[in-house]
Amino acid sequence: MKIGICNDHAGYAYKIKLLELLKEKGYETTDFGTGSEESVDYPDFAHPLAEAVESGRVDCGIAMCGTGNGMAITLNKHQGIRAGLAWNTEIGRLVKAHNKANILVMPARFITYEMAVEIMETWLTTEFEGGRHSRRIAKIPICK
Ligand code: RB5
Repeated sequence: MKIGICNDHAGYAYKIKLLELLKEKGYETTDFGTGSEESVDYPDFAHPLAEAVESGRVDCGIAMCGTGNGMAITLNKHQGIRAGLAWNTEIGRLVKAHNKANILVMPARFITYEMAVEIMETWLTTEFEGGRHSRRIAKIPICK
């Protein structure tokens, strides 16, 4: 599975460690930046990740900023993206099982690194439940 990852300055420290972990686990990763803790604008990194997921260049994505909201708001402007913000493990499970989130967003300034790992692993290994949730996610795009 190919995973794209992006972050702003607030998500940089976790991104570096999560990338290493993903590689150890055998995932193919693409880093969409940013590459340091210097202050940047999250849309500059969210849009390229969203485009890569929409085009199929990567299978799914992980995005982090301070609250996660800047990333989620930007990513969800893309019709093919379902970016879900998760700050605990159960939400990480539900955002895949019910919402089939193709990008996981985490609030780096509000969770520990250990929580980020647990949420990410849960989201990666949870299956979409389908059924009534397929009907619901089919109604999300506003232009087809
Ligand atoms: C950066 O200070 C912060 O605004 C950003 O990481 C994010 O929380 C925005 O939504």
